[in-house]
Amino acid sequence: METKLWQVDPHTVTDRHPAIEEAATLLKAGEAVAFPTETVYGLGANALSDEAVQKIFTAKGRPADNPLIIHLYDRNQLVRYVRNIPSIAYKLLDHFAPGPLTLILEHNDSLSRYATAGLSTVGIRFPDHPVARAILQASDLPIAAPSANRSGSPSPTEAKHVYQDLNGKVAGIVDGGVTGVGVESTVIDVTVNPPMILRPGGVSREQIEAVIGSVQMDPALKSTDATPRSPGMKYRHYAPEAPLYLVKGETLTQMYEHILQEAKRCIAEGKKVGILTTVEGRSVYAEQLPYEQTMIEVCGERRRLETVAQNLYDRLRKFNETDVDIILAEVFPSEGIGTAIMNRLEKAAGGKYI
Ligand code: TXA
Ligand code: MG
Repeated sequence: METKLWQVDPHTVTDRHPAIEEAATLLKAGEAVAFPTETVYGLGANALSDEAVQKIFTAKGRPADNPLIIHLYDRNQLVRYVRNIPSIAYKLLDHFAPGPLTLILEHNDSLSRYATAGLSTVGIRFPDHPVARAILQASDLPIAAPSANRSGSPSPTEAKHVYQDLNGKVAGIVDGGVTGVGVESTVIDVTVNPPMILRPGGVSREQIEAVIGSVQMDPALKSTDATPRSPGMKYRHYAPEAPLYLVKGETLTQMYEHILQEAKRCIAEGKKVGILTTVEGRSVYAEQLPYEQTMIEVCGERRRLETVAQNLYDRLRKFNETDVDIILAEVFPSEGIGTAIMNRLEKAAGGKYI
């Protein structure tokens, strides 16, 4: 299949932009089209059509038991697809919609059962990206859209990442530049009381609790013994090709020391070592490790964790363009957006800590 590419400026886009109209026409015809959201690029298809939704699963190589998030433009659309909406859902929407928050609600059987993977609930989100919103408005459809990567690889934050993974497998890619948040939406189940966070993401637990009071975290986020309530969370994910290890330390200095020690040991064995660090840590490694056998990637500023979230997936992908044998990654405090960062890093590491 030939994959069409369009470039769209998010600052001037409207639902009447020719590229947006073309993308919407393809979606209405049952094709899968990738587009930017404020979190990561999504691979969209008509959520009412079994055939269209199946194209997403085929293009991504996604397991059929992993349900998709449905993207809507306007809150009035909600009642067409879900029922028994608790008042807490409206409270969350008042504060965080449009934005990086996905609500798990009971659906009313009008959506494709492939999109919901046969569950009685569905994830709904109102994306806050002008290109995503223009496409939703122009197509006037509920759009099922998982992240637009091959299943298992890091989510795409730029159109070129989507192209690497899905060229020839989807009808089109709308390039609207680099996404903003960099990690996916927070998934929260509001069918239970108190609501439960199933996947940490762009809206932090602290922000949510400031609005609706205390929430639960899916126990599977802490322990590998529990089965995650969000089917997608059970897979190894976001992973670069080389094995990735998370390296801890009592203090920041000890973490740096620990990484240096591990890196030197690997280098002595003739390995090439990748290091995932921040602006603050870069020189520690650059000064002490041999240039030819080290590949240092800076993913942002430790003192501004939102910059780490923005760059994380791109840097994980960058290691695939090199011949590193092993990746050593710094860890971050699990608070605010740091919770989502650590969740993705732990998935990328398959839970491996040094
Ligand atoms: O930011 C995002 O949410 C991006 C952009 C494109 O909107 N989308 C995204 O979709 O991350 P995806 O498919 O990569 O992740 C959806 C997650 C999966 O972990 C899935 O298992 C979970 O949401 N999910 C979807 N429906 C669910 C349901 N009914 N119950 C529990 N978890 C659900
Ligand atoms: Mg995904």
